[in-house]
Amino acid sequence: MYPRILQKFDNLLVKIVDRYTNFRWYKNPLTKKILASKEEYLKIWERAKEKKHKLIDDFEEKSGFKIDKNWYHQLALHTQVVVKKSDIVYVHGRLLYASLRSYIEKNKPKNINITETGTARGFSALCMAKALEDSKICGKIITFDVLPHNHKMYWNCIDDNEGKKTRKELLKPYSELSEKYIWFHQGNTKTELPKLQTDRIHFAFLDSVHDYYYLMSEFQNIKDKQQKGDIIFFDDYTPKLFPGVVKAIDEICEKFNYSKEVITISEQRAYVIAEKL
Ligand SMILES: C[S@@+](CC[C@H](N)C(=O)[O-])C[C@H]1O[C@@H](n2cnc3c(N)ncnc32)[C@H](O)[C@@H]1O
Repeated sequence: MYPRILQKFDNLLVKIVDRYTNFRWYKNPLTKKILASKEEYLKIWERAKEKKHKLIDDFEEKSGFKIDKNWYHQLALHTQVVVKKSDIVYVHGRLLYASLRSYIEKNKPKNINITETGTARGFSALCMAKALEDSKICGKIITFDVLPHNHKMYWNCIDDNEGKKTRKELLKPYSELSEKYIWFHQGNTKTELPKLQTDRIHFAFLDSVHDYYYLMSEFQNIKDKQQKGDIIFFDDYTPKLFPGVVKAIDEICEKFNYSKEVITISEQRAYVIAEKL
C-alpha cells in the first residue's frame, strides 16, 4: 500500500507540474483588465445583431434547420461579443447548428460523438449541444482548449464587469445543456487529442490553432474515426488571412476523400463543411 504521505506528495507534485506546464493559461491570457463597460459591449452586440447574412439564411433554408435566434444572440452576448479591431461575426453558430441537425436527420445515429478543438468561451460547443437537444438525441461533445475551465479570469466579454469568472460560471445559465452534453477538456490538442479513445467521431469542428501543421496534426487524430457521410466543419477558410488553413483543408479534402462546401461571407470569414465520401 502506497503510504499516505507519499500519496500527498505525489498529488502535490502532479499539480505543480501541471501548473508549471500550463502556467501562462492561468495568468489572464485573454486580457489583464476589463476592456469595455457593459453599455459598450451591448452596443457591439446590437451592431452584430443588425447584420444580415443572406448566405447563412439560404443555408438554413436548404437544410431545413434554424437555431432559435433569441437563444443564439443571448449566448453570443456572453461568449462572442468582444472588443477587437475586426467586426464581430458569429454566424458559424448558425451553420454548426443547421449542419449538425441535418447530419442527424440524414444519418439517424443512435447516439453521436462530436469533437471540437478550440472551446474558447464555449459558444460553438453550446450551439452544437442545442442541436443535440432539439434533435432529441443522445451524444457527447468533447471540446479541447488550453484555457482552464475552473479558473477565474477575464474573458474580454460583458461578464468581466461582474468580476473574474471561471468558464463554468460564465456558462452557468446554460449549465443544464452543458452538463448533459459537453465535456470540457483542458490541454494542447497536440498531446491531448491522441489520448482520446473512441472508434467514431461523427462530427468534428476544428477551430484551435489556425495554421497548416496544427490543423493537419488534429486531422490525423480524427481521420480514422470517420465513416462515409461524417463531417468536419472548418472555420477561417480565408486565403489572405490564413493561407495555411486553406492549404490544409484543400489537402485533407483531396487526399482523404472529403467533399468541400465552402461558405464565404467576406474576405475575413469563410467556412468549410467537409463530408467524408
Ligand atoms: C478561435 S478560438 C475558438 C472559438 C470557438 N470555437 C467558438 O466558436 O467560440 C481558438 C481557441 O483555441 C484555443 N487554442 C489555441 N491553441 C490551442 C491548442 N494548441 N490546443 C487547444 N486549444 C488551443 C485558444 O485558447 C482559443 O480559445
